[in-house]
Amino acid sequence: MVPIFLVFFFCFPFNAGARCFRSFKTLQLPAVGSESYAFDSHNVGPYTGLNDGRIVKYQGPETGFVEFATTSANRSKEFCDGTDGTDPIVTLICGRAIGMEFNHKTGELYLVDANYGLMVVGSRGGLATQLAGGGDAERFDQVDSLAIDPTTGAVYIGDIGTIFQKTKNMTEILLSGDTSGRLLKYDPKTKGLTVLLRGLAMANGVAVSEDGSFVLVSEYITCRITRYWLKGPKANTSEIFVELPGNPDNIQRTESGDFWVVVNIQKLYPKLTCFAFGQRISANGRILETLNFFAEYNTTYITEVHEHLGSLYLASVDTNFVGVYRGSRCSGNLF
Ligand SMILES: *[C@@H]1O[C@H](CO)[C@@H](O)[C@H](O)[C@H]1NC(C)=O
Ligand SMILES: *[C@@H]1O[C@H](CO)[C@@H](O)[C@H](O)[C@H]1NC(C)=O
Ligand SMILES: *[C@@H]1O[C@H](CO)[C@@H](O)[C@H](O)[C@H]1NC(C)=O
Ligand SMILES: *[C@@H]1O[C@H](CO)[C@@H](O)[C@H](O)[C@H]1NC(C)=O
Repeated sequence: MVPIFLVFFFCFPFNAGARCFRSFKTLQLPAVGSESYAFDSHNVGPYTGLNDGRIVKYQGPETGFVEFATTSANRSKEFCDGTDGTDPIVTLICGRAIGMEFNHKTGELYLVDANYGLMVVGSRGGLATQLAGGGDAERFDQVDSLAIDPTTGAVYIGDIGTIFQKTKNMTEILLSGDTSGRLLKYDPKTKGLTVLLRGLAMANGVAVSEDGSFVLVSEYITCRITRYWLKGPKANTSEIFVELPGNPDNIQRTESGDFWVVVNIQKLYPKLTCFAFGQRISANGRILETLNFFAEYNTTYITEVHEHLGSLYLASVDTNFVGVYRGSRCSGNLF
């Protein structure tokens, strides 16, 4: 089954939960490459990783983004600032943080770096410390996302697998049927790393439920989200959580315990074209709301929809800004 969606945006069938008013503003980043966002327990943020290896945090409209942390001991500002992240040697020297999330109980920022694996940095920033997986192909192939269990502090990690070692052409990846992705767990108490699920079709997003009973993992290639039960009668088993109309990327839990998943509906021919949506999904897998970001993003691929204090922060590795979307739901709106 190949996810080819030759759908015209304007006749796309879902419109549930359309918002009447929408506003969109942007926060200028110092460089391109923000894949995911984190906010600290004082609601400061977003924090995000850039192509050139910097992890920056937003300090309000007057100051903008300031440098917070780095992941490579060998990084120098002179050499690295402004590099585009395409040269693997430069990326090794400069670092490349992708997914990140705060443990709000300890104030630490956990993150995954493309080369150095799972890392952590304290609330004052600086050089992050490696916890697992860097350069050890037996443990991680290509880590992309993580999520922290709010009840235990355990860290769940999405490993895309080996597909990028074969091709970086996204059309070929979509057609590959690759299932080398895995879901892993890192326990900060024992420092142990365990594999929970194998055979995933590009595991590029992870989120844990509010009560810590399950973890969700995106399967980009097969257009779905898989649920792995951590507690209860189905503990240690997995099932399909929701099938999506396009390719998912990051998943974020909201304050109310729902999830926002970014869904990119992609048309493969004549060339790869992307239409980005956000879908809010309940803890039992029901799609509650669908938002379409064509007006703001045109055909740019979006990697995350992150709800924070009533705004949706939209991330894309192809833009040099953070998109901040607000909308108000129309009551009784049926279109
Ligand atoms: C970082 O620098 C050290 C010391 O100069 C060197 O041994 C190491 O190979 C460098 N690592 C990278 C990734 O460049
Ligand atoms: C990616 O692969 C597809 C299918 O093989 C090909 O048609 C396309 O030209 C490739 N794109 C790039 C940018 O190389
Ligand atoms: C799930 O796996 C864990 C770790 O292997 C084990 O301790 C636990 O008993 C298992 N639970 C069930 C319900 O199988
Ligand atoms: C959207 O992107 C396409 C492809 O890059 C471009 O041709 C088109 O002009 C853009 N449309 C708008 C409204 O920016």
